[in-house]
Amino acid sequence: MRRMRRTAALRGLRRETLVSAADLIYPIFVVERPEAGGPIASMPGIERFTVDTMAREIEQASAAGIRSVLLFGIPAHKDARGSQAYAEGGVIASAIRRAREVKEDLVVIADVCLCEYTDHGHCGIVDREAIDNDATLELLAQASVVYAQAGADLVAPSGMMDGMVAAIRSALDDAGKPDVGVLSYAVKYASSFYGPFRDAAECAPRFGDRRAYQMDPANAREALGEARLDVEEGADMLMVKPAMLYLDVIRRVREAFPDVPLAAYQVSGEYSMIKAAAQNGWIDEKAAALESLTAIKRAGADAIITYFAKAAAPWLR
Ligand code: PBG
Repeated sequence: MRRMRRTAALRGLRRETLVSAADLIYPIFVVERPEAGGPIASMPGIERFTVDTMAREIEQASAAGIRSVLLFGIPAHKDARGSQAYAEGGVIASAIRRAREVKEDLVVIADVCLCEYTDHGHCGIVDREAIDNDATLELLAQASVVYAQAGADLVAPSGMMDGMVAAIRSALDDAGKPDVGVLSYAVKYASSFYGPFRDAAECAPRFGDRRAYQMDPANAREALGEARLDVEEGADMLMVKPAMLYLDVIRRVREAFPDVPLAAYQVSGEYSMIKAAAQNGWIDEKAAALESLTAIKRAGADAIITYFAKAAAPWLR
């Protein structure tokens, strides 16, 4: 076996998995209040941008080779119904419009969820401490139409509401936006690895947790049911999230739906663990980051949402 490992060129001949910058999706946080911008302590190297500074960040990332971004908005005002999520003049709609202008062929993906916009921090409308699934669907559909009209290529519902893909698909079609696709966070676990993101996006729930809507980390067969429903409802692309701890799930979804494009989200906690270990001198950041991305792709993901995107793109040339 070692003959084919002897030199870098020989190893290159038998390499099975290649990650390229075209596979990466760069998540970007956009704040409404300028004073809320700046570095995120729990995510070294990642910042919160205003609409203006976001435009500069996208220019730099695309110069490095990044072709897709995933936008999250953080509004100045939150309320019980998350109204800034679907306000035409809201921070996220403005960010999408601006991103669209920065680069014609940039893939602009808009995260669709209420948790960054609600005062209680849950992903839907709360009724006596429970989430009202169907009342939430209407708002997700409304937000998706606003993002489509602002110029998003794909909307990415992340709230794990039942029926969200169907509700969004029919709202987009009714609004004359049949070309806008749905990247569904089909398989999203109730993970403790979202901690740093919740600092960044100010979306930690004020009471309870998300276990009544996000999946139990113990389950893999259930993931195939989630994926099947979303495919039936019209999802254009599926996602498994988190990624590094769920490589088996990525593999199973890939095998069960061989023809459906699949993304995996290397989440904030997965990113920050690597950064923290590297900052302590315990691991080599570049090697560890590239190994993690390669593993996610090897497991079966076509695209990877990762906070390493901008830094990793030049390493992948
Ligand atoms: C919002 C959302 C979350 C993430 C992406 N979209 C947080 C959550 O569900 O609590 C997590 C991303 C990350 O940790 O990087 N629903």
